[in-house]
Amino acid sequence: MNDTFLKACRGEKVDYTPIWIMRQAGRYLAEYRAVRGKADFLKMCKTPELAAEVTLQPVDILNVDAAILFSDILIPCEAMGQGLDFHEGKGPLLSPAIRDKDTVNKLFVPDPEDTMKFVMDAIRILRKELAGRVPLIGFAGAPFTTATYMIEGGTSKNFLNTKRMVYENPELYKSLMDKITATITLYLKAQISAGAQAVQIFDTWGGIFSPSDFRDHALSYVKKIISDLKQWMLAERREAVPVIYFVGESAGLLEEIKTCGADVFGVDWRINLDDAIRRLGGDVVVQGNMDPLAMFLPKEKIEQRVKDVLNRATSARGHIFNLGHGVVPETPRDNVIALVEMVHRLSRK
Ligand code: CP3
Repeated sequence: MNDTFLKACRGEKVDYTPIWIMRQAGRYLAEYRAVRGKADFLKMCKTPELAAEVTLQPVDILNVDAAILFSDILIPCEAMGQGLDFHEGKGPLLSPAIRDKDTVNKLFVPDPEDTMKFVMDAIRILRKELAGRVPLIGFAGAPFTTATYMIEGGTSKNFLNTKRMVYENPELYKSLMDKITATITLYLKAQISAGAQAVQIFDTWGGIFSPSDFRDHALSYVKKIISDLKQWMLAERREAVPVIYFVGESAGLLEEIKTCGADVFGVDWRINLDDAIRRLGGDVVVQGNMDPLAMFLPKEKIEQRVKDVLNRATSARGHIFNLGHGVVPETPRDNVIALVEMVHRLSRK
């Protein structure tokens, strides 16, 4: 079994730097587009065999060191009772937008094995099909990032409705966040019980806050999830499953983030990795952090950037190579294959 990724998560010695890529199953792969041509995105998420099929594609094609479950962070919103749809070109649409007491009260904290069984079924299929080849990463959105979609009703530019709720109606915001936090906690436990070997919490929009607002209105809920998961793993005498916390545009927030209790810190490209490591406290495991659009550079320039990231990572206890955000659909697939090869070759001791 290739357990290099899990060893790196735990800060143990590895023979080379493991790599996986956010959004590694996606439209930049013709093999993904072929499956997607037969089913819409939500249908793919809800059909365990299809979700498992596209999860395995990048493992075969790219030779990455981990698989990440194919799904979406918005799946739990539907399970909580909000309508969810993905529109071509418009991205996700959630309705009704959650903006008052009435809509918050109608949301519930669902049993994940009941309402999102297709996710756990996909995990169970994948663990069989992977047969130990590489570990499987499960994931969820962080409560704040999930809340932005629920409150805005979709993607947003300035998060006006979200920030208005935080500032104008903090009790309502807290009651919504408590429901989302309870849902995500149960959801991640169900994924781990089904066989997820690591979990990543995505806080894509955390960077829209000032540091103190981030701490009070986003990070506090993530801390609660992580400490709850850790206590549960101990009580159940389970092998510790590493928790990765990724925050988008986190450069101004690292001193807050370092207190979250995660095993691995995801870092985007807007900061040099050595700088991020120092500000996270030094003795940490980091994941990142090349600009996804640097994948459009010629291969020799990509190689220089790989070397640069690997060099800057040497001050950390552990490093998992990744892009600083998801790979975009237009990305040349050959460059992604080359990236994985470069990271493996250049980091090998
Ligand atoms: O990383 C992986 O390969 C696992 C699968 C995964 C998807 N979404 C598949 C997806 C993961 C981990 C996500 C997380 C996700 N989803 C996030 C957090 C990380 C990030 O990218 O910031 C967010 C904010 C979402 C919400 C979401 N899902 C949006 C805004 C969109 C539309 C934009 C787009 O890229 O089309 C999606 C759709 C989505 N999720 C696609 C995929 C492969 C594209 C669907 C398609 O095939 O058309």
